[in-house]
Amino acid sequence: MGKILVTGGAGFIGSAFIRNMLDWYPDIHIVNLDKLTYAGNLDNLKSVDTKRYTFIHGDIVDAEVMEHAIKGCDAVVHFAAETHVDRSLVGAKDFLRTNVEGVYQILLSARNNDTSRVLLVSTDEVYGSRDVGSAVETDMICPRNPYSASKAGGELLGKAFYESFKLPVLITRGCNTYGPYQYPEKVLPLFITNAMEDKPLPLYKGGEHNIRDWLYVDDHCRAIDTVLRKGVPGEIYNISAGYEKENIEITRKVLELTGKDESFIQWVPDRPGHDRRYSMNSDKLRALGWKPLVSWEEGIQKTVQWYKENEWWWRKIKEGEFKKYYEEQYIKRIIT
Ligand code: NAD
Ligand code: DAU
Repeated sequence: MGKILVTGGAGFIGSAFIRNMLDWYPDIHIVNLDKLTYAGNLDNLKSVDTKRYTFIHGDIVDAEVMEHAIKGCDAVVHFAAETHVDRSLVGAKDFLRTNVEGVYQILLSARNNDTSRVLLVSTDEVYGSRDVGSAVETDMICPRNPYSASKAGGELLGKAFYESFKLPVLITRGCNTYGPYQYPEKVLPLFITNAMEDKPLPLYKGGEHNIRDWLYVDDHCRAIDTVLRKGVPGEIYNISAGYEKENIEITRKVLELTGKDESFIQWVPDRPGHDRRYSMNSDKLRALGWKPLVSWEEGIQKTVQWYKENEWWWRKIKEGEFKKYYEEQYIKRIIT
């Protein structure tokens, strides 16, 4: 597969993709371009010790940086993004900059460099909330929060570059992903680490029966690798495992695995415009040979175990940038 540019490789899924790809393909070289925002963390790549990996600290919006990073790369796998819905509700400027303008710059640079594959990692959130049935790739998109609207904007630019210039763009739409090294603003690492710290688990009141489909991070990486190798340019591929769970169910699972009871649940005001349910059909991807290898039961146990064994990783984060965010987002909003 040669040389691949990964953007946002110091984040949660991007770093898992780099660790896995270097393992799976002995001849691959990976260039990781990451701005190291609050969510980027080089600790996620501590185990990567090889000459087949290069790190570039930089911003995808910066044309010069992008042109330099993409040079000589056969493919781009684009993860870099602002990713947290709740932060996008407080202010979405950075989301528009990175998730729309950033994608535009990647497409321009890929076009200038005749890059042979450009895979944009997107999300099931672009379909919007779905009460019944499961979305297929040809369904209309209907994003309902600033994060998903910005991701949809990036996707549409990708599609436009495919139609206008035949740039070989592929798009994946992944469902809720979990596993080791996930920044503890997202519900599972937040609840797991709070439980370990004897702190309450802030569950959105009114959203406790909302549903997300849970995918273990290595299965998400395998899916992206499958689309990168076998996907058809111009096409979109849903990635979903089919483990649909209510928020109250995942909360109870975390309590069970951390040995805590329901008194640890703390009700906080619901997310405005909270999407009720995400659900996708992934037959198109499965026809390329992919299927999830890690069940919800196995995945959540492995994940809780990892956070138990790696306090060094998350305690640093929770005592740093995260602390102020948590105060604003939760402590001031607790329902008493
Ligand atoms: P993350 O928030 O953990 O990491 C994002 C990374 O992007 C960080 O390393 C950050 O430093 C980097 N970054 C942000 N802005 C940048 C910029 N302008 N230039 C260069 N680097 C920049 O994200 P994640 O949860 O790993 O998500 C990765 C991708 O997968 C995103 O595109 C997201 O939309 C998509 N996705 C995530 C999920 C999920 O459940 N986490 C599900 C489906 C799709
Ligand atoms: O569906 C894919 C998306 O999954 C990705 O595109 C996003 O980048 C990723 O952040 C994630 O978005 P969600 O909004 O679904 O994930 P989050 O972990 O923020 O919330 C999951 C559910 O848990 C959601 O219904 C809101 C609820 N929740 C979340 C937090 C952080 C709570 O009840 N309490 C919380 O403190």
